Amino acid sequence: MSNTEYKKVTTHALREMKERGEKISMLTAYDYSFARIIDAANIDVILVGDSASNVMAGHISTLPITLDQMIYHAQSVIRAVDRALVVVDLPFGSYQGDSKEALKSSIRIMKEAGAHAIKLEGGTEVIESVKRILSAGIPVMGHLGLTPQSIFKFGTYSVRAKEDAEAEKLRNDARLLEDAGCFGIVLEKIPAALAKEVTDSVEIPVIGIGAGSGVDGQVLVIHDMLGITKEFHPRFLRRYMNLFDDVRDAVSQYVKDVKDQDFPNEGEQYY
Ligand code: KIV
Repeated sequence: MSNTEYKKVTTHALREMKERGEKISMLTAYDYSFARIIDAANIDVILVGDSASNVMAGHISTLPITLDQMIYHAQSVIRAVDRALVVVDLPFGSYQGDSKEALKSSIRIMKEAGAHAIKLEGGTEVIESVKRILSAGIPVMGHLGLTPQSIFKFGTYSVRAKEDAEAEKLRNDARLLEDAGCFGIVLEKIPAALAKEVTDSVEIPVIGIGAGSGVDGQVLVIHDMLGITKEFHPRFLRRYMNLFDDVRDAVSQYVKDVKDQDFPNEGEQYY
């Protein structure tokens, strides 16, 4: 099904897509140039993910990235985008345990970056923050399952909610987020059957990453799907390019051309 009918994608449009059975496409972006390309390709949602901490800054987790850095990335993305809904992650430490701090952080993202919505990780633990942010009229997206900001509690990046107790908590958290007024939920790395069950049980769109095909849409990290992050190859990842190799080969060729005095040639200089 085509997605070209929306000039601008809104949270309302996402809900309509779910109702119609049209799958929602979502990718991350962190800078102006990639965001321009992705938006031109008619992506529905751009996530300024805190995965910027990994793929832009080279950290081993999403924990170090700051609110100021997230706002910088979001500002660059927003400048590029005409059509997509732009959702920005609240970084670790900017919302947990203090709903007033959560609201302040969200207002900064909306005001200083011009974002359209925020995303945060967790269910019952962060529900006060979710409600307070929503009370200010800021759209909120939840994120359940493998929540990378809790990686040091989990200890591994393996599939979450395989055990009954964790699956039941996830079902309850999804309901809680929907009842609070979230416009959508990301489900990361959980069994496909559980993801489908949760998707069917809520009216808001559910976007999966490593959550199978029974969800309302898919999200990937742009650096992973373009093959820039060579070393990362989980089962759920489909690579559409091998950009690491292509860029390395292009740069190697450039180095050779400069060394061989082949570049610049006669046509590449001024007279
Ligand atoms: O930060 C991010 O890129 C994310 C996606 C993996 C959903 O939260």
